[in-house]
Amino acid sequence: MMQRPRRNRSSSSIRALVSETQLHPHNFVWPVFLVDGLQKKEAISALPGIYRWSVDLLAEQMKEAIRHGIKAFAIFPKVSEELKSPDGKISLDEKFFLYSAIRRLREEVPEALLITDVALDPYSSDGHDGIYKNGKILNDESVEILAQQAVMQARAGAHIVAPSDMMDGRVAAIRKALDHQNFQDVGILSYTAKYASAFYGPFRAALDSAPRSGDKKTYQMDPGNAREALRELSLDISEGADMVMVKPAGSYLDIIRLFKENSSVPVAAYQVSGEYSMIKLAGAQNLLDEKTAMMEALMAIRRAGADIILSYYALEFARDFARVFSK
Ligand code: PBG
Repeated sequence: MMQRPRRNRSSSSIRALVSETQLHPHNFVWPVFLVDGLQKKEAISALPGIYRWSVDLLAEQMKEAIRHGIKAFAIFPKVSEELKSPDGKISLDEKFFLYSAIRRLREEVPEALLITDVALDPYSSDGHDGIYKNGKILNDESVEILAQQAVMQARAGAHIVAPSDMMDGRVAAIRKALDHQNFQDVGILSYTAKYASAFYGPFRAALDSAPRSGDKKTYQMDPGNAREALRELSLDISEGADMVMVKPAGSYLDIIRLFKENSSVPVAAYQVSGEYSMIKLAGAQNLLDEKTAMMEALMAIRRAGADIILSYYALEFARDFARVFSK
C-alpha cells in the first residue's frame, strides 16, 4: 500500500487537528525599553515598530498587551550618557528613574509580571556587562554590584530578576543576596547560554550600549559550543535559577532542545533584536511575507522546546492571535 502523508494535510481543519506545536500569548515575554520622563515615545531606527516609552505611556502599552494575553514584560532602561560610569553605580542609586518606574508599574498595572535586567552594560561608560579594567572584565567585583542591583530591583517590586551578564557565580550570589533581604519569592530567570552574537546589534543601538572597546567574547559564549552550554546549565540550576534561557533563539534551536532534554526547569528563548529586525526589514522590502515569516520563526523556537519566548513581536503576535482565533 502506498503511504500518503498528504491525507493529513488536505484541509485546514485536519491540519489544525494534527498540529504538533501551538503558540499562545501566555508563553510570551515582551521586552520593552523604558526612558526617563513623561509623555515620551521615541522611535528606534534599528528596531522598526519598537519604541522607548516613558513610564506613563509604557503602562498604557502594557495594559493593551495584557488585554491580548501577554502578561510578562522584560524591562530595559535607557540610561543617558552623563549618568554612565565605569562601575555603573547609578544602578545602585535609589533615586534612579528605573526604581520609581517599577513602583509605578506595579501600582498601575498590577496584573503585569515584571522581569528586570541585571547587568552593567546599560549603565557602563565602557559598554561592558562587568567592570572593565586594563582590558579585563573583573568577575567577582562585578558580581557584587549585580547582586545589589537585583536587591534594588526586588525592593522596587520586580517579580523576577534576569541576569544577562554571563559573569561566573552570579546566580548564586543573587539568590543569596535576595534571600538575605527576605526576597525569597523573587525568582531568577538566568541568561544561561548567552552567545557572543552579532544579532544583538539593534539592541545596542537602542540603548547606546555597544562596547566602547573590545568585544564580549571573554564572558559570552562561543557560537560553536554546545557542550559548554550544558556546563552553564548545570551550574545555573545548582546555583538556584528558576528558569534558564538560551539567547539568541533562531540560530541556537539545538541548544534550546538540549536544555529541554537536560533539565526540568522552564526553558526560555530570546528572539533577539537582530532576528526581529531581519524579518521586519525583509518584510518591508517585500522580500518575504512578514507575518508568515514571523509565525514560522516563533513556531520553530517553540517546536525546539522553548516554554517561554521573549520577542519584540510579542504584542504583534498576540494581536494576530486574537484576530485568527475569534473568527
Ligand atoms: C546585555 C544585553 C544584551 C541584550 C540583552 N541584554 C546585549 C548584549 O549582550 O550586548 C540583547 C537583546 C537583543 O539583542 O534583543 N546585558
